[in-house]
Amino acid sequence: MRAVLVGPPGAGKGTQAQILAEELTIPKVSTGDIFRANVSGGTELGKKAKEFMDRGDLVPDEVTNAMVKDRLAQEDTAGGFLLDGFPRNVPQAETLKGMLADLGTSLDVVLELKVDEEEVVKRLSGRRSCPECGRVYHVEYDAPKVEGECDNEGAELYQREDDREETIRHRLKVYREQTAPLVEFYEAEGLLATISATGPVAEVTARAKAAIDEKR
Ligand code: AP5
Ligand code: ZN
Repeated sequence: MRAVLVGPPGAGKGTQAQILAEELTIPKVSTGDIFRANVSGGTELGKKAKEFMDRGDLVPDEVTNAMVKDRLAQEDTAGGFLLDGFPRNVPQAETLKGMLADLGTSLDVVLELKVDEEEVVKRLSGRRSCPECGRVYHVEYDAPKVEGECDNEGAELYQREDDREETIRHRLKVYREQTAPLVEFYEAEGLLATISATGPVAEVTARAKAAIDEKR
């Protein structure tokens, strides 16, 4: 299964990608997570990405595409993958198509998660993330067992730099202008499946699985 998740910031792409990747036994490839790991590790790639991420802008395509190309050349993604956060504009989608063609393959499905903007602002302003295992929580909707600590290993949860309300609004604008056109692009390719991402996490997962199964 080669699948892509598309949706605005806070739609629950990361949350669903984690669950779906486990259930489908394919690796999850999240460009946002890879960038954040590089920023906290102080790598060259992290230095290039940080200012764009903190502003809520897209990291330049040449940087992002090269990073994804490396990741998709690794062995564990040869049998399938779930992309979360990539592609994020039409040129990235064209690049991905070319990369996969070079590997002799193509996408099976693009799952669009739909949710309204006010809900997104609520979700992102309450999000807390684990620096160790990458799990995301929400202070109200999906709280950890002990406040401020990850259920998995007890690491102290943090709030993302780009989860301030002003930056959230800017990320939504970037989504509308640059990422939303992907919906038509993938519709034309016959790959698009759209589901509502509102409601409990488990319900969204069930909708996602049904939509993926239909496209298989
Ligand atoms: P990225 O990390 O991809 O951020 P994003 O797209 O803005 O998405 P988020 O991670 O904010 O949200 P999500 O949809 O994953 O939601 P989540 O599951 O966490 O990218 C960050 C930055 O990296 C970009 O701004 C850019 O600079 C750069 N970047 C990344 N990819 C790039 C690319 N391809 N090109 C260029 N630049 C790139 O859920 C959110 C919250 O809601 C959580 O608290 C969660 O617990 C809660 N929640 C989830 N589901 C539900 C539910 N059903 N009900 C209630 N609460 C829920
Ligand atoms: Zn953790």
